[in-house]
Amino acid sequence: MKTIGRKVIALLISVILIYGSLTAGYGAEKECSYVYNDVMSKILTEVCSMFYVEEDMISAPKNITAKTDSHNQLIISWDVKKGASSYVVYKAENKNGEFVKIGDTKKARFIDKNVANGKRYCYKVRALGGKLGIAGSKVSKIATGYTKLPAVSKLSSGFDASTKKVKLTWTSVEGASKYYVYKKTWSGSLSRIGTTSKTNFSTPITWNGTYIYVVAPVGNAGGKEMIGLLSKETKIKVSGIPEISSNRKKIALTFDDGPGPYTKAIVDCLNANNSKATFFVLGSRVSSYSGVLSYTYSSGHEIANHSYSHPMLTGLNGDGIKAQMNNTDAAVKKITGATPKLMRPPGGAINDKVRNNVGKPMINWSIDTLDWKTRSKTATINAVMNNVREGDIILMHDIHRPTMEAVLELVPILRSEGYDLVTVSELAKTKGYTLSKGCLYTSLR
Ligand code: NI
Repeated sequence: MKTIGRKVIALLISVILIYGSLTAGYGAEKECSYVYNDVMSKILTEVCSMFYVEEDMISAPKNITAKTDSHNQLIISWDVKKGASSYVVYKAENKNGEFVKIGDTKKARFIDKNVANGKRYCYKVRALGGKLGIAGSKVSKIATGYTKLPAVSKLSSGFDASTKKVKLTWTSVEGASKYYVYKKTWSGSLSRIGTTSKTNFSTPITWNGTYIYVVAPVGNAGGKEMIGLLSKETKIKVSGIPEISSNRKKIALTFDDGPGPYTKAIVDCLNANNSKATFFVLGSRVSSYSGVLSYTYSSGHEIANHSYSHPMLTGLNGDGIKAQMNNTDAAVKKITGATPKLMRPPGGAINDKVRNNVGKPMINWSIDTLDWKTRSKTATINAVMNNVREGDIILMHDIHRPTMEAVLELVPILRSEGYDLVTVSELAKTKGYTLSKGCLYTSLR
């Protein structure tokens, strides 16, 4: 039957084409030519639908899905259908409802922008194509998509000093059975801190700092939990908590190779956050930055010795090592009036000669931020925040701009995560260490 269909069609087309070329050969008028073409295409379509559609019918598009995008629009997609030149998309409010054509597309995907938040929609697709571009496929299976509930509005936060809790409030969202509350972490990701069916939530605060929260309504669509759109952020600075030092985790930030052009900004940030750090300075740089060094020292930070000109001390003899130490001590004392108590060997390099000649406790580190290498604010912050724990000694360099930029963000983050930033000497003291000459320390837990 189908073979006969093909032959009949081929014959008909041949006849029509021959007729067409003959009439064209007789020099038909232009308008007549249009009419002729129109009539011919109608005949063709008609004939094809009689004989050919059945044969050319392609199977239904497969694997249709409907998912929300970041704008809460529904993206309907399906597998590319071989032989299809375009697709028609149909939509209904429910599976048994009337499916209405909402558009056509040449791609195997369609974005439905005409959707409301927190709703369910059903979609079907038909492919068009076939050898003559007019055949249609069977209609696909139904894909059901859900848009998210709208975000809560008027999210606000307040701190209650008597209970030491932040209270969040917001307006309710129709269709929400509960709300998820998220706290923004140091990395910018969201951490879920609670669930409530009310339109308020209280969360205890342990440390002074700046906190950011968002809320999302949770709906129930077809038995499936659907998290709605995230609210705008609410930000609150908490400062009413007495800072009981013994409760907090202590670490030491250390800065090498300065002083430099970024030292002052780092010191200002530390001062503003009630924090201290240790600066391992180079004697050769001290006189050029005497004002900064003086400011650093008088702000209560520790000035320590990182040699005079940054040679590997392991390559020097005893006198050479002593000269590197003494010259820096003298340069610092001239400005601050105090002799550095601690030292850090350039490159962290140590041997017995160094041990025997530095005349001070040697302080290396437990976290190397590699700030000098990455020159990246984000990498420097991550190197600290992904690894930090109590008693750490953290290595950075105050001669690089990205390091300074990292410090401006890092210090407030560390403070709100419960860390006290102290000098190396203070860290040793609170941990009960007596630091000895020629001994190496990498952390003080
Ligand atoms: Ni160095």
